Amino acid sequence: MNNKNEDSRVLKCQHVSLEVSDVDVSLEFYRKFLNMKLTERHKAGEHKDIPFEMAFLRLNKQHHDLVLTHNPNRKYTKKNDENSPAGIHHFAFECSTRDSFLFYLSKAKEMNLKIVRGPVIHSSFHKNGDGTWGENESFYVLDPDNHRIEIFCDMAIINKNGEYINSENMTVPDTIAEEI
Ligand SMILES: [Fe+2]
Repeated sequence: MNNKNEDSRVLKCQHVSLEVSDVDVSLEFYRKFLNMKLTERHKAGEHKDIPFEMAFLRLNKQHHDLVLTHNPNRKYTKKNDENSPAGIHHFAFECSTRDSFLFYLSKAKEMNLKIVRGPVIHSSFHKNGDGTWGENESFYVLDPDNHRIEIFCDMAIINKNGEYINSENMTVPDTIAEEI
């Protein structure tokens, strides 16, 4: 994309809509764990084009960051690592500071959530990195339907030359994005 068109590119990947087996259970989980608030909730069939239940949840000011849907005519099974249809592997919630990240880590422990991975620094460059990729610090839990949620902070920024800039505003040596 050339410079002239840079302002018209998509801003970010924002919300995800999950199919859940029980909206009440998931709503309680996302309220309790991430302090999400319900913006709107609608019954299946309330609109002629929407034969499923919907709940729009927000984190801050935008109308929704997460949508829960449930089709009463479908029989749901939980996601299963061994044998599942292709789909989303995980989705992620960004913390604005490392203190916020640590707050949610302790909250996950308080709630006795199973931390399925981490906390870990995904980096091949950071001195405490695990040798993987992504350049951020993360941990992962499962929601009531076993959707894998990542909580993270301190993701590197890619500058205009393709170099990685870490959360301390330092250029990470020997890094370059595949495409600039
Ligand atoms: Fe991730």
